[in-house]
Amino acid sequence: MHKKTHILMVCLGNICRSPLAEGILKSKLDPQLFEIESAGTGNWHVGEKPDHRSIETAKRHQIDISRQKARHFNVKDFDTFDLIFAMDNQNYKDLQALATNENAKNKIHKIVAFDANHHKEIPDPYHGTLADFEHVFQLLDGICENIAQQFRNKTFPY
Ligand code: 4NP
Repeated sequence: MHKKTHILMVCLGNICRSPLAEGILKSKLDPQLFEIESAGTGNWHVGEKPDHRSIETAKRHQIDISRQKARHFNVKDFDTFDLIFAMDNQNYKDLQALATNENAKNKIHKIVAFDANHHKEIPDPYHGTLADFEHVFQLLDGICENIAQQFRNKTFPY
């Protein structure tokens, strides 16, 4: 028996980027070993399904995120989760500001740290086009593949 690894994907609204990150990473890891969720630093969309453009983009890649429900990040998440991945620099700063101890702070990482192509952030596609959502999907797919491989090889650095 071993404890599952709990991973939380975080963006601003929890309707565009982090639902995609959750769906993509889930598709690459064993659900017996990993619990993967997502949340937003903002609360405007709590209870909503992901943005229809995220749902459509994921579906085009055979991933179903349509049953996800947006939720607000809660400081209790620092206890529940082992790893918290921020989509952009503002999300990272907001999470760091909510963390009250070193253990919590050390759980927060910029997800682009795992990008082989060194993008600085996952851009917010909310005011963009379907092509921007596809770009976000491709970025997250490469990053999540990298994360999943490191877990499979047991070389994950944190
Ligand atoms: P997300 O995109 O952070 O990737 O979910 C956004 C969704 C909604 C808003 C901003 C970003 N908003 O301001 O409502």
